[in-house]
Amino acid sequence: MATSTRQSCLKYLLHLAQDNLDFRLPEIKSLLALRGKPFHYSGNFQEKTPFWCLDELSEEDVRGVMARSVCAKSAFELWGHGKTHSELKTSLLKYPTENMSPFMCKDSTYRINVYTFNKTLEFEDRIKRIDSMDYLPFEGTVNLKSPQHIFCLLEDYGTDPNDIPEHPNYIYFGRWIADGQRELIRSHSVKNRHFIGNTSMDAGLSFIMANHAKVNKNDLVFDPFVGTGSLLVACSHFRAYVCGTDIDYNTIHGRGRSSRKNKTWRGPDENIRANLRQYGTEDMYIDVMVSDASKHVWREAALFDAIITDPPYGIRESTRRTGSHKDVIKPQDAIYEESHVPVTQAYHLSDIFTDLLNFSAHHLVLGGRLVYWLPVYRPEYCVEMVPLKPMSSGSSATVSRRSPAIPHAA
Ligand SMILES: C[S@@+](CC[C@H](N)C(=O)[O-])C[C@H]1O[C@@H](n2cnc3c(N)ncnc32)[C@H](O)[C@@H]1O
Repeated sequence: MATSTRQSCLKYLLHLAQDNLDFRLPEIKSLLALRGKPFHYSGNFQEKTPFWCLDELSEEDVRGVMARSVCAKSAFELWGHGKTHSELKTSLLKYPTENMSPFMCKDSTYRINVYTFNKTLEFEDRIKRIDSMDYLPFEGTVNLKSPQHIFCLLEDYGTDPNDIPEHPNYIYFGRWIADGQRELIRSHSVKNRHFIGNTSMDAGLSFIMANHAKVNKNDLVFDPFVGTGSLLVACSHFRAYVCGTDIDYNTIHGRGRSSRKNKTWRGPDENIRANLRQYGTEDMYIDVMVSDASKHVWREAALFDAIITDPPYGIRESTRRTGSHKDVIKPQDAIYEESHVPVTQAYHLSDIFTDLLNFSAHHLVLGGRLVYWLPVYRPEYCVEMVPLKPMSSGSSATVSRRSPAIPHAA
């Protein structure tokens, strides 16, 4: 009973990274949806700010989201908030004692951090901030190195670096619960990846795509324009089985010219499987094969839980498909079939997306998601530009967008 009363009034504060702003809300919504929870914000929700207050969640839900999120930096159980320190104090003193006391008892250890967004505070000012919170009934001992409980005072000075106010616009205080998965951006950076190409997808964006697609343990995920497999790397990290196709024989077989500086040719074992091995997820690798995404090679069935892809959009990667310019394919002599390299012709962007949507409508399971990059000119972008295809009920298409002029930028 005590636990349910405690849970019912809890609010959680997410501290989000201020990059890929458009992708944060779909990421958090998707991760909550994976847990069967809707997105409920509390107060006046402003999508572009670094702090969001969420309602109607359990601590377990928040931990589950943070175990996947690349957009969120940290999550806190929100104890108080206000426009000024005095408002914060009033709010904190109203917070139920029974919610606070398990974390403030005599034999516990704790630490208070001070975090400021869009302003740097001197060390002395940080200490002053902490000292000013002496109205909170902490009974435990301070332990800076490895405390049992971490608390955080967060001050928001707005998002304009050219107009930093003297006093914070808003202040929060809460108990730290978990950090997000920002570390994956560094640990999976393409800079240190075994096999890369000119258009290998940035690690952070690959994980965000996997989250948008609600990739789950034991799912089967397909990338029809797989390249060097960056999206498969991200999905396999979340324990999905992965497979892909690419029209380029050299990419699939890890041969040909290297994309690395000071290296002319790809070395042995530079391939997608080796990338997964590098990150300890080779057991999730199904296979990749040479195939033209514009041609039907799969049996007619709902095969994939998610289709995640980064189609060629013609700037750094040419758009092509098999077929001669006259659209006449010469019959092959069986003897030469092995060494035959099909002639290719231009593959127009609109056809790529039509084929992708048709393919997904036929091969995604019910409720499965298609996540792909659509090149747009941002100043003119509107949602009507997103190609549509009526899908079987329950399926949905999630679209990430980028400008063709700024490859791999949100
Ligand atoms: C933007 S890249 C994908 C990069 C990939 N996400 C990665 O991380 O390396 C597009 C890929 O589509 C492949 N491609 C182009 N036309 C294709 C087609 N008709 N069918 C299948 N793959 C194709 C290219 O060879 C290229 O590897």
